[in-house]
Amino acid sequence: MCGIVAYIGKGQAYPVLLKGLKRLEYRGYDSAGVAIASGGQVQVFKKKGRVSELEEALTGREMEGHCGIGHTRWATHGEPSDINAHPHTSSDGKLAIVHNGIIENYSQLRQELLNKGHRFQSETDTEVLIHFVEEVRNNNRCSLEEALRIALRRVVGTYVIVILDGDHPDTLVAARKGSPLVIGIGNGAHFLASDASPIVEYTKEVVYVNDYEVAVVKADELILKNSSNEIQTPYVQKLDLELAAIEKEGFPHFMLKDIFEQPRTIFDCLRGRLDAAHAQLTLGGIRNHVEALKEADRIIIVACGTSWHAALTAEYMIEELCRIPVEVEYASEFRYRNPVIRKGDILLAISQSGETADTLVAIEGARQQGAIVLGICNVVGSSLSRLSHEGIYTHAGPEIGVASTKAFTAQLAVLAMFALKLARDKGSVEEGRFRELLTGLEGIPARVETLLEQNGKIAEIASRYRDSRDFLYLGRGYNFPVALEGALKLKEISYIHAEGYPAAEMKHGPIALVDENLPVVILATRDRFHEKIVSNIQEIKARKGKVIALVTEGDEIVPSMADETIRIPEADELLAPMLNVIPLQLLAYHIGVQKGLDVDKPRNLAKSVTVE
Ligand code: G6P
Repeated sequence: MCGIVAYIGKGQAYPVLLKGLKRLEYRGYDSAGVAIASGGQVQVFKKKGRVSELEEALTGREMEGHCGIGHTRWATHGEPSDINAHPHTSSDGKLAIVHNGIIENYSQLRQELLNKGHRFQSETDTEVLIHFVEEVRNNNRCSLEEALRIALRRVVGTYVIVILDGDHPDTLVAARKGSPLVIGIGNGAHFLASDASPIVEYTKEVVYVNDYEVAVVKADELILKNSSNEIQTPYVQKLDLELAAIEKEGFPHFMLKDIFEQPRTIFDCLRGRLDAAHAQLTLGGIRNHVEALKEADRIIIVACGTSWHAALTAEYMIEELCRIPVEVEYASEFRYRNPVIRKGDILLAISQSGETADTLVAIEGARQQGAIVLGICNVVGSSLSRLSHEGIYTHAGPEIGVASTKAFTAQLAVLAMFALKLARDKGSVEEGRFRELLTGLEGIPARVETLLEQNGKIAEIASRYRDSRDFLYLGRGYNFPVALEGALKLKEISYIHAEGYPAAEMKHGPIALVDENLPVVILATRDRFHEKIVSNIQEIKARKGKVIALVTEGDEIVPSMADETIRIPEADELLAPMLNVIPLQLLAYHIGVQKGLDVDKPRNLAKSVTVE
């Protein structure tokens, strides 16, 4: 949510900022801007719309300067507009700020500053913050760094901020609380960004700034201090990210690239962990909590969005294999409803980004009450991975398309391994079933590969239904969370209203919607509910609904009733979600593309929701 990039060094700042903003655009894309320090002045350029519109507006202009900050916005305070876009400046125009997060007490600060004569151009909390820093600096006659530290003591909320000072173009000052900030260490240059994607082509040496730290950054010096003004030794890490991983590599969209990468990303996720031939499963990331897991009376899973759908699938897996009760919670509800947590409870937090604000606050609260927090996360070094006691990375690689695809299937693979490992440790699964599932899981990447061959067919199906106003997605058992995820993908990408439902619940309401204009996507792959789902299809056909059915290869009964059939390779029902979701991702993708929509950056959404 909002992307920040900044540069200070011997080279020109603008090209680095522009390229960085393009890489970060998936974090927010309703307006963009840059500020560059040059000749004692701060030049600010900002514009509503995409980064490309800013670039166009600046084409041909002199953009000289060795120190600059940039921002791509996802609006919180104030509508997307040129004025509300970042960077924002102080009253004297000397300080410019970019900010990701929310200053919750901004209206109180704003009123105080108004009383002191400050005037604001925008409706943002960010402009209030920079005026407040300016006020503190003027009152205390102190350095910018000191002023920022004092100001932040009054600030309630989350932030990553980077401030540039026209009078001191050799220094950038930055701080973080609750949102990510990475600093790349270059040769006579430093790069600051919300994630590593704008940095990777310049350097692989990075420092992840911690909460409450303030960074004072010069071209060849980086000083980190904690809130008590004590110098911290920066922990320099090697970035495990290749440039190719954040480029489209010939695909028309990141979303399609992410979808097509799934045979490899699931394989990467299993690699080194699963050995079906020797019936071995190793999850080194949770090795210190094996006993706690075996003894757990229950497992609570918190997550948001697509990760919440993975959590729901995990509930089925863990309860079936481990016989431990599982509660799945939206992190946003969990954090506020005073949940009962007992010492020793296991809290599993699932998040692609590891930066989702609600999930982070939920786990902080649970930790304070004595829960053991295990994180399942895609982004190495993210806040979630640092707040968890232990955890498992999904290793899906950078997911750039805003709608989550490959991260979801990698989460499912991790969760299947987690459930199987725990079941074996507890002795709650028969050896034969354990081995069968291990072999099945190992075979998933190859099956996904086969499934992707139907991409063209799914594009054709999309063309027949893209003008529908609503869609219904139905599934039972393990396929119910997949129905929810399929509906979410369609909503996100095509803006068509879609609902996911447990198939049996259809009779309790949604059936009233069924007529010849309603496409119903039915997950009818072979499992213990097969006959029941066949009855559901008949009920829909009796009301003239259009059935798009996912069936196991070899099934001839369902295709004879359905309007459209997508054939899925044979898989155990516990593993089937990893296959079944793929045609649903493709269906949403093609409908979105055929409607002429920007599938990589759907309206109003952001990849990583770092505000509550
Ligand atoms: C946003 C994204 C979703 C994602 C959700 C949770 O809404 O657009 O794709 O599922 O956040 O994100 P997380 O990073 O915690 O999995």
